[in-house]
Amino acid sequence: MEQQRDQWATKIGLILAMAGNAVGLGNFVRFPTQVAQNGGGAFMVPYFIALFFLGIPVMWIEWVAGRYGGKYGHGTLGPTYYLMARERVKPRGALWWGVISGMLAFSLTVLLNSYYLHLIGWSAAYSYFSATGAYFGQSTGEFFSNYLGNHAQVMLFWGITVILLAIAVGQGVSKGIERWVKVMMPLLYVFAIIMVGYVFVLGSPIDPNWSTIDGFRFIWSPNWAYLKDHFATVMLAATGQIFFTLSLGMGIIQNYASYLGPDDDVALSGLATVSLNEFAEVVLGGSLAVPLATAYAPKIVPPEVLAQGKNEALAWIGQKFGLGFSYTSLPNVFVSMGDIGKLFGAMWFLLLWFAGFTSAIAMYNYLTALLEEDLNIKRKVGTWVVLVLYFIAGLPVVYISGYLDQVDAWVSFQLTLLALFDIIVAVYLFKPDNFWKELHQGAYMKVPGWYKPILLYIAPILLLIPLIGSAQSLVGATLEWPARLAIIFMWIVGAVESYYSIKRKYGEELEKNEVI
Ligand code: PHE
Ligand code: NA
Repeated sequence: MEQQRDQWATKIGLILAMAGNAVGLGNFVRFPTQVAQNGGGAFMVPYFIALFFLGIPVMWIEWVAGRYGGKYGHGTLGPTYYLMARERVKPRGALWWGVISGMLAFSLTVLLNSYYLHLIGWSAAYSYFSATGAYFGQSTGEFFSNYLGNHAQVMLFWGITVILLAIAVGQGVSKGIERWVKVMMPLLYVFAIIMVGYVFVLGSPIDPNWSTIDGFRFIWSPNWAYLKDHFATVMLAATGQIFFTLSLGMGIIQNYASYLGPDDDVALSGLATVSLNEFAEVVLGGSLAVPLATAYAPKIVPPEVLAQGKNEALAWIGQKFGLGFSYTSLPNVFVSMGDIGKLFGAMWFLLLWFAGFTSAIAMYNYLTALLEEDLNIKRKVGTWVVLVLYFIAGLPVVYISGYLDQVDAWVSFQLTLLALFDIIVAVYLFKPDNFWKELHQGAYMKVPGWYKPILLYIAPILLLIPLIGSAQSLVGATLEWPARLAIIFMWIVGAVESYYSIKRKYGEELEKNEVI
C-alpha cells in the first residue's frame, strides 16, 4: 500500500467536489435539450426509472471501486479494475479486464474534452458578450457563426479556461480542486436559484398566450401517447442522459473517490451526489431554458409556425434545441428582456462556465493522476502535458465541421459501455458479497437488501437495451473517418498505457499468474 496519497480535507469539500463533478453543462443545456426533443413529459417517466434502477446503483459501484483503488494508491481504472477482477480470475485474465476498462476511461476523457472544453470556452465568451451587449441588435445566429469563425477568439477563451484548470489541478486535490469547488459550487447554486426565481415571476412577458407555465406544463405532464409511440428512442435518450449527467461510465467518480480514506462513507455520500445533481438538473435546469424559450416563443419561433398553434410551436422549439441552442436562441430571449437581459445573460453563461469548469477539473485530474501514478510524471509537469494533449485533441472540433456532434454521439455510447464494465468487474468479478461489504464499510446508511437484485440483474439488463439498440446506427451511419480515427487512436494509446501501468506494478504476480 502506498502512503502519503492526497486525501479530501473536509467532508463538505468532498461533497461539493463530487457535486461539481456531476453538475455540468449536462444539467443546464443537455437535459433541457433531451426533454424538448423527446416529447417533454414523455421523457420524464423513463428518466426517473433510469435514475432509480441505474443511476443510483452505478453511482455506488463507482464510489466503492474508487475507494478500493485508492487503498492501493490507484486513481485510474486500469490498475483498479485489475485488482478487483483478480478476486475471481487469475492475474493474467484480470489484466485484460483492467486494460479494457482503462482504455475506455482514457479515451472517453480525451474525446469528451476535445469538445466539452470548447463549449465551456464559448460560455466564458458569451458571458462577456452578454454583459457588454455585444450581440444585442444583431442576428444571434449570425453572431454565433461569426464567433466560431474567428478561431483566434475561440482559442483565446478556450485557453483561459484550460490554463485555469491546469492551475487548479496543479495545486493538488485538497489544496487545489477542493478549494476551487468550495467557491464555485455555492455560487453556481445561488446563481441558478436567482434565475429560476426570476423565471417563476416572469409569467407572460411578450404575449398573454405564452407563459412560462406552458413550459413547465410541457415538462411535467406525462405524455403517455408520445412515450408509447417512441418508446425505444425515449428510453435510450433517458438512459444516456442519466449516465452523462451523473458523470458515470467515465472513471472520474472513481478517481475522486480514490482520495477517500478506507473507512470513509460511500453509501450516503454517493446518494448525496446524486441528489445534488438531480436538484440542479430537474428542479433548476428544468426551470430555465424550456420555460424561458416557451414564454418568449413569439420572439424566437417563426410566425408561420406560431400560426399553426401551440403544439406545433412547442415542437418547433424542441427541434431547435441542441448544443447550439444556448448560444443562438437563448440570446434572443435575453435581448427581448431589455437591459436586465444583459445581466441575466451574463449570469446564465457564467453559470454554464462554473458548471462546466467543475466537471472539467475532474477529468483533468483523471489524466493528471494517470501521468503521476502510472508514469511517474510529477503533477506540476503533468498538468501541462494534459494541456497539450487537450489542445491537439480539440483541433478537429475547430476545423472539421460535424466532428463535435459525431464524437458526442459516440461518447454517450461509450459511457454506457464502460458502465457495463463497472458492473461486471466491480460487482461480478469482485464478487457480489465483497461488493456489498465494501459498500457498507464505514457507511452512514444501510442500503436496503432489495437493492441487491436491482444491482445484480436489473441494472445490467437495462444497460444492455440501449447498448444494443444504438450500436448499429452509430457505427454504421453516424461516424465519419476523422471521428473514427480519433476514437481508434485514443483506444490504442489508452490500452497501451493501461497495460504498461498494470505490468509495471504487478509484473511479478502476472509472471507467476498467482496473487502474491
Ligand atoms: N456530468 C457532467 C454534466 O452533466 C458531464 C460529464 C460527463 C462530465 C462525463 C464528465 C464526464 O455536464
Ligand atoms: Na450533471
